Amino acid sequence: MSTNSKVVSATSGSRPSTRELSVDARRRAVSEIAPRFLQPVENVGVRLLVLEDISPWAIASFRSLGFHVDSYTTPMTEDELIEKIGSYHVIGIRSKTRITPRVIQAAPKLLAIGCFCMTTNQVDLPAVTAAGIPVFNSPFSNSRSVAELVMAELVSLSRQLFERAYELRTGIWNKQSKGCWELRGRTLGIVGYGHVGSQLSVLAESFGMHVVFYDVLNIMPLGSSRQLPNLSALLAESDFVSLHVPELPETTNLISTQELKQMKNGSYLINNARGPIVDIPALIEALTSGHLAGAAIDVFPSEPRVNGAPFDDQLNSWASTLRKLPNVILTPSIGGSTEEAQRMIGDEVSQALASYIGYGSTVGAVNFPEVDLRPITADQENQVRVCHVHKNQPGVLRQVNKALAPYNVEKQYSDSKGNIAYLMADIAGISRDDIGKLQELIAATDANILTRFLV
Ligand SMILES: NC(=O)c1ccc[n+]([C@@H]2O[C@H](COP(=O)([O-])OP(=O)(O)OC[C@H]3O[C@@H](n4cnc5c(N)ncnc54)[C@H](O)[C@@H]3O)[C@@H](O)[C@H]2O)c1
Repeated sequence: MSTNSKVVSATSGSRPSTRELSVDARRRAVSEIAPRFLQPVENVGVRLLVLEDISPWAIASFRSLGFHVDSYTTPMTEDELIEKIGSYHVIGIRSKTRITPRVIQAAPKLLAIGCFCMTTNQVDLPAVTAAGIPVFNSPFSNSRSVAELVMAELVSLSRQLFERAYELRTGIWNKQSKGCWELRGRTLGIVGYGHVGSQLSVLAESFGMHVVFYDVLNIMPLGSSRQLPNLSALLAESDFVSLHVPELPETTNLISTQELKQMKNGSYLINNARGPIVDIPALIEALTSGHLAGAAIDVFPSEPRVNGAPFDDQLNSWASTLRKLPNVILTPSIGGSTEEAQRMIGDEVSQALASYIGYGSTVGAVNFPEVDLRPITADQENQVRVCHVHKNQPGVLRQVNKALAPYNVEKQYSDSKGNIAYLMADIAGISRDDIGKLQELIAATDANILTRFLV
C-alpha cells in the first residue's frame, strides 16, 4: 500500500499518525493541527501601550503577532495616562505606573494589563476587575537571581567583605582574619522553602553548607537539606538565617526581639523577602549588642519610589542608625534585578497577554479565574470562540446557554473568582451574520461585563 493510500483510508476512519504520512502530507497535517491565533470579530488591530522600558524581547514578540506597539522608557503620571490610554487595548507597565479607577474610566477599549514585574499593587485591582480587565504579572521569574544574591551575601558577611572593601576605598589597609569564616560546614537556615528558598538550598549545599529549613507546608527536602518542625528550632541551629516568606499578616515582624534572642551568638540574618518581615529596631539592638555578627537587608518597610531619592530617617526613622552599623549590607531591593530575570519576566507576561488576546486564556491572571480551552486548530475553520466576562451571580449560565443552544457547542468551560466569572465556549456551525446577533444577545444579559468573539 502506498503512503498516500494510507492517508486516504486512514482519513476515512481514524487520523493517521504523522509518522505514517509522506513529507508533504506530514507538513499539511502539522499545519492543520497547529493552533489558530484568533482575531476579534470586529477585526480591529490590537494596540499596545508599553511603558517603563519593558524588555525589547517582549516588544518584538508583540510586533511579531501583528500588534501595534507604542513604547516609552519612562512611567506616566495618572493625567498623562488618562490623556493617552483611550485608544489602546493592552497596557504594559512595571512597578512605577499606577493604574487608578480614573485611568480605567478613560480606557474604554482596554482588554488586559501586563505588569512586567512581580507586584500588582500599583494596579487598583478591584476597579480593573469590575471593568472586566485581567491583570498578568510574573511572580517567580527572578527566583534564581535572588538565590544567587543570597550566596554573595553569605560570603560577604562571613568574610566582612564590605567593611574591608570600604576601608580600602577610603585609603586604609586592614588585612585581618578574626571573625572571618568559610561557609563550608556552616548551617544555613532557610525560612520559607518556596521558589527562592529551594533554589538557595541547592546552591548552598554546593558550597558545602548544611541546610535546614522551616516552612508552614510539609515540603520534600532537596539534596541533603532537612525540614525542621518550627521556627525556633531553625533559629537555634543556624549560623545564617535567610528569610523567603511572603508578606502576610502572620509574617509581619516574623523576626523580632524574641526570635533574634533565639538565634545563635555570632550568627547572621539575611532578608531579601519583604521589608515588614523583620522588626528593624529589634535587629539594630541585636547587632549593636554584638549578639548578631552581621546582616544583609535588601527590602525595607518603606522604600523610595525613584532612583536617587534619599534613604533617610524621614523614610524610616531608624535609617541613619542602621546605615552606620558595621558588617551590615544594605541594598536597594536588587534581589531580582538581573538582565536574565527581566528577560524571563518579559517572555512570561507577553505570552500571557498574547494568550488572552488571541485565545481568550486567563491562565496566570491575578484577579480572574484561570480559564482555558484547548486551541481551535487551523483545520477547524467553522469554529468560533466566545469569551464572556460577567458578574458572578446566579442564572448567568442558563441565559448564555439558551443563547448558544441553536449551535453546536464543541467545548465550554467557566469559573469564578470573587465577584467576577469567566466563560469560554467554542461553537461550530454559526454563520458570519449570526455571530453579530449572538454577540448582541449575550452582551445584553444583565450580568455581562465584556463579551468578545474570536474567529
Ligand atoms: N528582593 C527581591 O527583589 C525579591 C525578588 C523575588 C522574591 N522576593 C520575595 O521573596 C519571598 C519569597 O518568594 P518566593 O517566590 O520564594 O515565594 P513562594 O511563594 O514560592 O514561597 C514562599 C514560601 O513561604 C512559605 N511560607 C508562607 N508563610 C510562612 C510562614 N509564616 N513561615 C514559614 N514559611 C511560610 C510558603 O509555604 C512557601 O513555601 C517573597 O516575599 C517575595 O516577595 C523578593
